Amino acid sequence: MPNLPAEALSETSFATVDVLLHSQTPRARRANVLVFRYRGRLYAYVNHCMHMHRPLNCQEDAVFDPERRWLRCSMHGFIFEPDTGICRSPVCEGQALQAVKVAEEDGLIVFKEKQLQVLAVHAAKAAPGGEHA
Ligand code: FES
Repeated sequence: MPNLPAEALSETSFATVDVLLHSQTPRARRANVLVFRYRGRLYAYVNHCMHMHRPLNCQEDAVFDPERRWLRCSMHGFIFEPDTGICRSPVCEGQALQAVKVAEEDGLIVFKEKQLQVLAVHAAKAAPGGEHA
């Protein structure tokens, strides 16, 4: 199974991971998961902006605003709280990105969701406004 080394994910970078959710059930579906650190903690969300159903990094290879205060969809600029996934832009205000349980174990980033199968890991990328990973 592909994995993501924890050291590859710095405070200023993000990675995306293709997964199969509900992998052992008829509801199994592919998804792309966004993984990043924010203020020292690890977060993961299904990389799907509810506005027009695009990945947050669909237009630019970036998922944060320049100050790195908000997660930001590169399509129309909607912003989300990094630690809750809640949207703070009109139209979708109050809706949230789907959180995915994630942890750091033995130097690896590990998903803690039942029936989640990792399909492919895309390398960590530096976020704008910070140092490169
Ligand atoms: S698709 Fe994300 S802001 Fe429009």
